Amino acid sequence: MRLLALSGSLRARSSNGAVLRSALDLVDGTTAIADVGALPHFNPDLDGEDATPPAPVAALRTAVAAADALLIVSPEYAHGVPGVLKNALDWLVSSGECVHKPVAVITASPFPTGGDHANAQLRETLRMMTGDVIAAACLEIPAIGPKIDPTTERVTDEATLAALRESIGHLAAGSLRLT
Ligand SMILES: Cc1cc2nc3c(=O)[nH]c(=O)nc-3n(C[C@H](O)[C@H](O)[C@H](O)COP(=O)(O)O)c2cc1C
Repeated sequence: MRLLALSGSLRARSSNGAVLRSALDLVDGTTAIADVGALPHFNPDLDGEDATPPAPVAALRTAVAAADALLIVSPEYAHGVPGVLKNALDWLVSSGECVHKPVAVITASPFPTGGDHANAQLRETLRMMTGDVIAAACLEIPAIGPKIDPTTERVTDEATLAALRESIGHLAAGSLRLT
């Protein structure tokens, strides 16, 4: 499986970044992480049929098109999706690379809710974009803090690692259905 990951956190020591890296460690295949922080703010004037997309947007679209599946890992901000991640998805709405693309949405939070609002909102947006949201691959990870080793910046909690392994397995199976 060629997997492209998108993170909703730009923070250097992001807990979601640690979850993302831990999930990618479990992938049998090639992986890449999209640079969503490099994208300009979405502007439909730059997105028309005659417009040349900004280079970071073109790079994102090429990477999504080349991927068999997408993994989105994100925190929740104010019961919503971080702007940087919604911005990335907005650039992909009309260009179509997400259509029928298998996607897993994982949210991690220091709170018991596991980022449930952001998780639900991301899934709804991706469904609207006709992405193939693999429900069994989606996860909400509560109380993430102690589940990560701050030295390796990887998940060490066995139950969370097992859930991530299962998630990646479901995503890989979803990507095979389409080939
Ligand atoms: C502006 C702001 C709003 C937040 N709102 C929420 C929230 O609604 N729900 C939640 O679970 N955590 C919320 N948090 C806490 C984040 O989950 C926490 O900072 C987390 O570590 C961010 O993810 P990261 O470690 O991947 O950067 C918020 C944090 C910030 C800075």
